[in-house]
Amino acid sequence: MNPLVSDTAIPNNSPIIVALDFSNIADTHNLIAKLDPRMCKLKIGKELFTIAGPKFVEQLVVSGYDVFLDLKFHDIPNTVYGACKAAANLGVWMVNVHASGGAKMLSEARRAIDESAHKPLLIAVTVLTSMNEADLKQIGILDGVDAQIKRLAKLSYDNGLDGVVCSALEAKMIKECTNSNFLTITPGIRLANSAKDDQTRIMSPKAAIENGADYLVIGRPITDAVDPTAILVEILQTCHPREQI
Ligand code: C5P
Repeated sequence: MNPLVSDTAIPNNSPIIVALDFSNIADTHNLIAKLDPRMCKLKIGKELFTIAGPKFVEQLVVSGYDVFLDLKFHDIPNTVYGACKAAANLGVWMVNVHASGGAKMLSEARRAIDESAHKPLLIAVTVLTSMNEADLKQIGILDGVDAQIKRLAKLSYDNGLDGVVCSALEAKMIKECTNSNFLTITPGIRLANSAKDDQTRIMSPKAAIENGADYLVIGRPITDAVDPTAILVEILQTCHPREQI
């Protein structure tokens, strides 16, 4: 574990996770220079991680940010076990895997985190929002998107995961088929006056929280803003932050 994590981490109960969807480190630094770790968490996905690497993740953690390492691990159980241990050792706040990797893979991911000194939240991806019913049929899933989401959310819950990434529109349904404490991490969030971009099923921050979302993943409405802090303040004022877990 990064020895500096516990000394420098700033308590943060913001429900906002800013998606760092940048293709270079300079643009990422420009945005982070305008942010404050007490107002938001940060999400690093496959593109930025591949460019910037684990040292960059550790730097953000040391700067006091809660980091969601969004690498969506999906492999044989032994490999996912190792990957989750490595992620935990970076000091990240949240890590995720694909629920479709199955029960053995999920329970090995759980074991990896449980055995680590620092224990990030362990989250599953159910059905990618880019996939529709026809896409699922092509891979042999015939009973529709909602049935598959519920099946994989329940599998994740039964294997000890802490929650799932889902649309805010699905948050209530997921809590109903699992547990009210099962976390929902929801992208597709838009303010009344922000562009929809390529998102189709969107919700406002307030509506998402009211529908059961625990954390809101927000990218372009914040990263493209001239004053990202003003947008963060606006969002935080419209929803009540949940307690830090
Ligand atoms: O810019 P925007 O707010 O649309 O960014 C949303 C973020 O959430 C992006 O990083 C995107 O990859 C991620 N995401 C998503 N839908 C999912 C899962 C993740 O938009 N189902």
